[in-house]
Amino acid sequence: MYQFNFDFDDFLATHWHQKPTVIKKGFNLFKDPISPDELAGLALEEEIDSRFVTNKEGTWNVTHGPFEDFKDFPETHAQLIIQAANHWHPGVASLSVPFKKLPDWLFDDLMICLSMPHGGVGPHIDQYDVFIVQGMGKRRWRVGPMGEYKDANHDTGLRQIEKFDPIIDEVLEPGDILYIPPGFPHEGNTIETSLSYSIGYRSPKEQELLSGFADFAVNNDLGDTHYHNPKIKTQTQNSMISSADYQALNKMLMRLLNNENAKRHWLGEQLSQSRHELNLMEADPLWTQEELIQFIQEGMILEKVYGLKTLYHENEPLDLYIHGEHIHIPEGAEKFLKILCCQETFTKKDLGPLIKNKAIKVLLLKLCNQGYWYPQA
Ligand code: SIN
Ligand code: CO
Repeated sequence: MYQFNFDFDDFLATHWHQKPTVIKKGFNLFKDPISPDELAGLALEEEIDSRFVTNKEGTWNVTHGPFEDFKDFPETHAQLIIQAANHWHPGVASLSVPFKKLPDWLFDDLMICLSMPHGGVGPHIDQYDVFIVQGMGKRRWRVGPMGEYKDANHDTGLRQIEKFDPIIDEVLEPGDILYIPPGFPHEGNTIETSLSYSIGYRSPKEQELLSGFADFAVNNDLGDTHYHNPKIKTQTQNSMISSADYQALNKMLMRLLNNENAKRHWLGEQLSQSRHELNLMEADPLWTQEELIQFIQEGMILEKVYGLKTLYHENEPLDLYIHGEHIHIPEGAEKFLKILCCQETFTKKDLGPLIKNKAIKVLLLKLCNQGYWYPQA
């Protein structure tokens, strides 16, 4: 069980979206949740997003996984990066638990870097809030002020920048945490072979909200209505878009944008969509209704797939959003939404009389057959 060794509320008030900081011993007696060998094993998997970055003699090189093997892993100037490792490894998933104090819709993933001495990805700027937790080994981190920086080594895809003057320059040791808000340049350089864990949060952009809602409107046939004006009049300047026409078209657009019900469902769907592949555990063969209920009755523990986003809106206990999908919870079964959203596992004891509810049984079958919940081994 990982627990913060500092006051997270104080940290948020003074640093979140404001300024970078190092929290020495943010985790006391930190133990790595994964070994370098296990991490390298993840990079062999097709579904797992991995990169290998080297910088021998100042030449940056990036290769993308899946990799065949790591027999010749360089002893220096190299870094293996695994994205969304929390989706694939229970120990790593448990390291994300203390960070659940922040809303899940903001959370992106937990990325792990295995870095050899002098390994890193070079100076760069992220548009993410990131907590970098140092595991085994030591790395020196430099963080600069926000500002305008020139791009460098563009062809590597590393989005590097040229040099910056640090406002933080510290060596991180096991259990230390570096927090960096979006826009602050930073660079990690490895001193002793290291595992570090980047817990990333991504705030949506205005333009992403707009284009996401536009897609939702099109996919759901909202606003499939043409401008209609049976009272049109002649105008002397036919190049002119009249103020009245502008107002009428703007009103059409705003009618769509002010559709609160549509916006709520779209936001729930969009924010519950993970940006990284999930380790879905589809039953094979699929469960039948009778089998599933019988196994639950016999005491089976159902576990939620790591990294699955299960969201709901405040004061809307009958609308559940799972991985981009809106699911209507039957009237009177608000407790079922809470079980699915707020628990990592559940059993017949949690369900109580709900297990007899026909609509709930149908829903359970759908969720298990989609691989979102699976029997705990
Ligand atoms: C690294 O650990 O070198 C990359 C993590 C980051 O800078 O976001
Ligand atoms: Co970064």
